[in-house]
Amino acid sequence: MSKKLPVTYELQHKNGKARAGKVMTPHGEVETPVFMPVGTQATVKTMNPEEVAELGAQIILGNTYHLFLRPGDELIGKFGGLHNFMNWNKPILTDSGGFQVFSLGEIRKIKEEGVEFRSHIDGSKQFISPEKSINIQNNLGSDIVMLFDECPPGMSSREYLIPSIERTTRWAKRCIDAHKRPEDQGLFAIVQGGIYEDLREKSMNELMEMDEHFSGYAVGGLAVGEPREDMYRILDYIVEKLPEDKPRYLMGVGEPIDMLEAVESGIDMMDCVQPSRIGRHGTVFTKYGRLVIKNAAYAEDPRPLDEDCDCYVCKNFTRAYIRHLFKAGEMLGLKLATYHNLHFLIKMMNGAREAIKEERFLEYKEKFEANYTQGKK
Ligand code: GUN
Ligand code: ZN
Repeated sequence: MSKKLPVTYELQHKNGKARAGKVMTPHGEVETPVFMPVGTQATVKTMNPEEVAELGAQIILGNTYHLFLRPGDELIGKFGGLHNFMNWNKPILTDSGGFQVFSLGEIRKIKEEGVEFRSHIDGSKQFISPEKSINIQNNLGSDIVMLFDECPPGMSSREYLIPSIERTTRWAKRCIDAHKRPEDQGLFAIVQGGIYEDLREKSMNELMEMDEHFSGYAVGGLAVGEPREDMYRILDYIVEKLPEDKPRYLMGVGEPIDMLEAVESGIDMMDCVQPSRIGRHGTVFTKYGRLVIKNAAYAEDPRPLDEDCDCYVCKNFTRAYIRHLFKAGEMLGLKLATYHNLHFLIKMMNGAREAIKEERFLEYKEKFEANYTQGKK
């Protein structure tokens, strides 16, 4: 038998394929299904860590690629790791840099050894290999470490995907060998395979041969340009085949409706930069869909961003005021919109969790979707 893994999962309730459970990590427990705010550069943009916790976030993401380039993972290591450096004492998951490096397009080159790329900051030549990615994440000290994978574009051909999957599997072995902290950092594998069921299964089967090393499984390579129906079809097919006793993480999906669809397929964890990114551009989630706060229609609107929301922002500020902040280029606007958007998704997932426990998840999802697509503002 293998040694005890540092990150474990407890299934509490199933409603159809949807799951309510708990992920135990060295920095505490995470109740799932869960939305994880993204803190790419060791900060959830505009937010103090206490505020991130106050709005109900249980775990956040950090990024290998960005933190390696700036300020450097060794520097963060000198400050006792990412938790200490940014003053966040709850769980942290770090992405491996795979996705970010591959998003660079023209300025990167994939080889068996690793990926060569140019820094988006100063254009300098850089290299990340599976060993390097794990070494960076060991220095960061995240609770959950992602394997270094290739994330191919959503519409990649079978001919492209097959050797890519096989390389990602070889990289997985190298990541396991390079991992220096298996006692306090859990490794998550990443299933690739584009929009093809059999290739997803191939990727999953190859990774599951190393199952004893993995604390969880992610589904990667989705929401990267493929039609929505393909994403739903792949999730519906592959998620239930993953080990029941480990958490399942869908990477980079943060549209509210997509998130609930993923939960329906049996996904436990999700992240996306979307709520923060659109928030900083003045777009907010509401019960009835997205709202663009700069629109003239809200100039004298005394209502909160979302009449159905009980967050700090919605309890204290009007649409008219927040619109004014955006029009005047005031920083507080960015923060209030970010705060509300993160709260919206966290609350949506808490609702999903309760609904699963009470065996009414489908009803919950359908009601949410009906309201969200209605367009009433
Ligand atoms: N973020 C979103 N999709 C992916 C993926 O496929 N791989 C990694 N490493 N990160 C992601
Ligand atoms: Zn709110």
